[in-house]
Amino acid sequence: MNILNSNKSEVLDKESLRQLEFIEKAKGYVEELKKELGRTPTACVVTFGCQMNARDSEKLVATLKLIGYEETESENADFVIYNTCTVRDNADQRVLGRLGACSSHKKKNPHMKIAICGCMMQEQSAVEKIQKSYRFVDLIFGTHNIYKFAELLCTSFESDRMIIDIWKETDKIVEDLPVLRKYPFKSGVNIMFGCNNFCTYCIVPYVRGRERSRSPKDIIRECEKLAKDGVKEVMLLGQNVNSYGLDFKEDDPNRISFPQLLDEVTKVEGIERVRFMTPHPKDLSDELIEVIAKNPKIARHIHLPLQSGSTEILRRMNRRYTKEAYLELVAKIRKRLPDVALTTDIIVGFPGETPADVDETIDVVKKASFDNAFTFIYSKRTGTPAAGFEDQVPEAEVKENFDRLLKVVQETARKTTEKYQGITASVLVEGVNEHDSSLLTGRLSNNTLVHFPGDEGLIGSFVDVKLTECHGFYFMGEKV
Ligand code: SAH
Ligand code: SF4
Ligand code: F3S
Repeated sequence: MNILNSNKSEVLDKESLRQLEFIEKAKGYVEELKKELGRTPTACVVTFGCQMNARDSEKLVATLKLIGYEETESENADFVIYNTCTVRDNADQRVLGRLGACSSHKKKNPHMKIAICGCMMQEQSAVEKIQKSYRFVDLIFGTHNIYKFAELLCTSFESDRMIIDIWKETDKIVEDLPVLRKYPFKSGVNIMFGCNNFCTYCIVPYVRGRERSRSPKDIIRECEKLAKDGVKEVMLLGQNVNSYGLDFKEDDPNRISFPQLLDEVTKVEGIERVRFMTPHPKDLSDELIEVIAKNPKIARHIHLPLQSGSTEILRRMNRRYTKEAYLELVAKIRKRLPDVALTTDIIVGFPGETPADVDETIDVVKKASFDNAFTFIYSKRTGTPAAGFEDQVPEAEVKENFDRLLKVVQETARKTTEKYQGITASVLVEGVNEHDSSLLTGRLSNNTLVHFPGDEGLIGSFVDVKLTECHGFYFMGEKV
């Protein structure tokens, strides 16, 4: 696996070429540090949050490697960078806890640099907190200027001050930044950035800005580079992939629909499976369902966030669909795509939610027979409309509703997953099982996890596996 976009010859974008020059410059600083330490300095990137952040971190890792750091998993490193998430309060708290622990490492290693970036840094209050209580941090930047990482590193090497660079918004998309994947055989591919939906509970539109789509040419070119470098599965990423391309002018030849883009990506030589995340139920089109039905390279998995099954709560969440519309969409998907696994996200404890509203959610879970559901307790995000709603639900009531829902979610997921018992399907082998090294772990097209005995050499390839034993949401299997 190569660091892509590390040679000027592979890079078309002007800003990326500029950043490659900062990488050259930063190499000199790291070289000096290496002499001083008498060893290669180490760097650790800690990532919180969603696939978007994971993909951003792959760019940070590439830059750190190119300038001469050796990657490590330990936060007791010469450079530690936290790529933060702020979608729920517990994500914030986890980052601050880890950051606090880092200060003791820095006391022992004065050469150490600590940086913090990502979604949480787009909130002024969070930056102020770091400035006040975490004075040992060297560098703070946000989501819109992450492409400037090499440049910011140079600035930081040239100064003892805390460097802070946060932008409110951007319309710029920087292509061709150096990137080193976590997995050789699969990769996320951003197709758009930002979100225009403003669900009333959600901070993402405020920290990631307005929707900006990448041109189809750039996306295809990236997929081609990835395929040449050994990638077999890509996941197209966006907060609402259905609105891909809608920000282009109507006569712009770049204006193709998401289903068209999806189809194009499957034509890239070497790409054998294509996933996408996340479609918004309010605009999942018949065209998308048809494209999936006709194209076996598109994964048999749709993650369709429900959030709530109560039409009144959905209205207050600004989700712009009703319980009935969601169920109709599910029925349509199940009918045309019988082999597709459906998963979802659900929030419990949104302001004003009653036990009867939760009963509506439970009803949808049962009727939709989700393969899996991620359930979250509502977290009040300062600056979002829902934070100002007066009818916040008491914690004990939320807990009770959450437990009630979780039980049904687990029962439903088990029942739905059990249906795959005995089938043989193609699995992309992702790695050695974490608990038992005689087993391999991989995923079916429908995203179901399967563990089976096999040899490490199979990692990164597609293998036919018979699903022999259902264990809730995953299977044990045998290679056929
Ligand atoms: N764009 C995607 C998801 C983005 S955030 C979508 O529209 O579905 C991922 C999930 O976090 C959401 O689906 C939602 O279930 C959850 N989430 C977002 N804000 C939240 C909040 N304030 N409290 C609890 N969960 C939240
Ligand atoms: Fe948040 Fe809604 Fe946008 Fe998803 S669609 S990121 S939940 S505002
Ligand atoms: Fe979190 Fe930012 Fe993703 S807030 S969920 S990392 S877009």
